[in-house]
Amino acid sequence: MKVLVVGGGGREHALAWKIAQSSMVETVFCTPGNPGVAMLEKGCCVPLTVNDMVGIGDFIAEYAVDLTIVGPEEPLAAGIVDALQAKGRLVFGPSAAAARLEGSKSFAKAFMTRWNIPTAPYAEFDDAEAALAYLRSRGAPIVVKADGLAAGKGVTVARSVEAAEAAIREAMVDRVFGDAGKRVIIEECLEGEEASILAFSDGKTVLPMPGSQDHKPVFDDDQGPNTGGMGAYSPAPVVTPELATEIDERILKPCIAGMAAEGTPYTGVLYAGLMITQDGPKVVEFNVRFGDPETQVVLPRMVSDIVPIFLACCEGSLAGTPVEYLVDPCVTVVMASGGYPKAYEKGKEITGLADAESDPDVMVFHAGTKRDGDRLFTNGGRVLNVTARGATLKETIDRAYVAVRKIHFDGAHYRTDIGRKALVRWSG
Ligand code: AMP
Ligand code: GLY
Repeated sequence: MKVLVVGGGGREHALAWKIAQSSMVETVFCTPGNPGVAMLEKGCCVPLTVNDMVGIGDFIAEYAVDLTIVGPEEPLAAGIVDALQAKGRLVFGPSAAAARLEGSKSFAKAFMTRWNIPTAPYAEFDDAEAALAYLRSRGAPIVVKADGLAAGKGVTVARSVEAAEAAIREAMVDRVFGDAGKRVIIEECLEGEEASILAFSDGKTVLPMPGSQDHKPVFDDDQGPNTGGMGAYSPAPVVTPELATEIDERILKPCIAGMAAEGTPYTGVLYAGLMITQDGPKVVEFNVRFGDPETQVVLPRMVSDIVPIFLACCEGSLAGTPVEYLVDPCVTVVMASGGYPKAYEKGKEITGLADAESDPDVMVFHAGTKRDGDRLFTNGGRVLNVTARGATLKETIDRAYVAVRKIHFDGAHYRTDIGRKALVRWSG
């Protein structure tokens, strides 16, 4: 088979790496891919951007690609799955209508209300003055969210009314997120520990993967501004087996059943971002794709071939498809460019990668890198995902950081506490 992965970050490198292990696959194309994908024996990067739907459609036809997996949310929200399916292509991911679960927070909140899926109480506004008046009546802490896609930057967890006011003005008046901020959601601030659950779905059946935990703030101890994610680990001990059952019954199954009942069946990976509160798990957000960097810690634990799972999702035969995982934990540490998540420079030379990867239980997924001859340079905010497997979480964390310390580029920074919360939970 020839498989195409749409995207070019650490998540797509991990997907291409896992797909390449399938004996069914001869080539994994990636649009646009990255130097990590290019180094895979079966990997082949194609210089097309993720939003070039026509170019991607033409490429699939010309190269007779058998199966396409879409990584990022933007092309999903724009309808790439509908467009490719209309041409008779096999593609893994939700339709544009189903992708509204991520593309519109207003849609997602109303949907959860309709189907009684636990989430924070909220109100939504198209008018800034009304939003400000509501905010003042509620006080802080409170959460302000731009309705549309804002590259992960549209959410403010405001500890003061002033911070919430500023977030409302930024979104609705200054329009820093463009039309995505025309409407805002104001919701109750939930307290607890976060966890991510990714689940396969064929539109009827939902099959959760093991839980993971992301680390969104840029600095240790969850300090500083939010990023796309500075590291992750799986499994997440906060998701006990009982809690996993509750999440399945109260969140995942009702979501898939609700989407089907509303005539927009959900196929692909459903990502539930959860807050584990004292009143049980509540949905902070739905995403309509694999998480980044959660994928980088979940897929290395998957023992089964992933390609039959993708096919089962596309064909509606997920029920009864066995999926096995290692019990061994996996940890990924994101190495970022100096300044990230604010302005940062690109083009810094990266050294030490081969040394870091000399440990067979270490994989370095590329997120923002660029090759020039034999040399590798930074080319994004999140540069590398240094990933390790091990027998225990402690050993795995140590292994990941040993590898991290072998890699160098100007301005590199990373959190030094990835996985610590889980260690505390397990030892306590
Ligand atoms: P989102 O893009 O909706 O996942 O939000 C980004 C981050 O903001 C989440 O990962 C949480 O850390 C935080 N967040 C979002 N909504 C809430 C909420 N209602 N209460 C507390 N934190 C939240
Ligand atoms: N790790 C957060 C996300 O993928 O949205």
